[in-house]
Amino acid sequence: MASQRKFVVGGNWKMNGNKSSIDGIISFLNGGQLDENTEVIVAPPAAYLDYVRSNVNASVAVAAQNCYKVASGAFTGEISASMIKDIGADWVILGHSERRHVFGETDELIGEKVKFALSQGLKVIACIGEKLEEREAGQTNDVVFRQTKAIADNIGAEDWSRVVIAYEPVWAIGTGKTATPDQAQAVHKDLRDWITQNVSADIAQNVRIQYGGSVNAKNCVELAAKPDIDGFLVGGASLKPDFVTIVNARKA
Ligand code: PGA
Repeated sequence: MASQRKFVVGGNWKMNGNKSSIDGIISFLNGGQLDENTEVIVAPPAAYLDYVRSNVNASVAVAAQNCYKVASGAFTGEISASMIKDIGADWVILGHSERRHVFGETDELIGEKVKFALSQGLKVIACIGEKLEEREAGQTNDVVFRQTKAIADNIGAEDWSRVVIAYEPVWAIGTGKTATPDQAQAVHKDLRDWITQNVSADIAQNVRIQYGGSVNAKNCVELAAKPDIDGFLVGGASLKPDFVTIVNARKA
């Protein structure tokens, strides 16, 4: 049941911030009363990963927003899993819808990135989610199952404990249009059933599935009450003190 899975809330800062605004975020994170039963992860832009890791409390984990599928080399503009580890961060977000739809990342590439990041000892937030036209065409499950399969095929049984799935319907990201708690719960439940059938019942029971897409301080409590919603991946609201309220959604 949901209660056995530790609630996990990530803040995806995307391409936002500077040292001064990041100092503000660090101060509300370090000064806020964050629920000890919630795992908290923040994902600053790559340029600030080291700064954030050095300044935010140790209880807050740090994630990169992306990394490449090989160890090092002539890949201008990319960062590697070992660099993320080297500065003391533990997590990486992979397959975010902006990586898929703005930068053209394919299911195949995302699968390769997940596999390599896990092999290097990182923990992974792997993102999936349908576009509006796919939902309207009744293809939501087809899309999220296809995306999940491309990820799951690259995760060894022993590595699933280092993976969180983030279900983020593309039409809800940055739009102020949240999936209703029932809409989100339905997809999370279907996903967990898919994992039961295609990976294992044990992994399905234990893997955490975050919801993402316009989560805010007002809608988080109702979403957090759903049995298959094990946390959030938060964009816009993660830049504001509201993020502390969202982290504490299960406590409210
Ligand atoms: P949003 O972004 O909360 O601003 O909708 C969520 C995300 O992209 O992870």
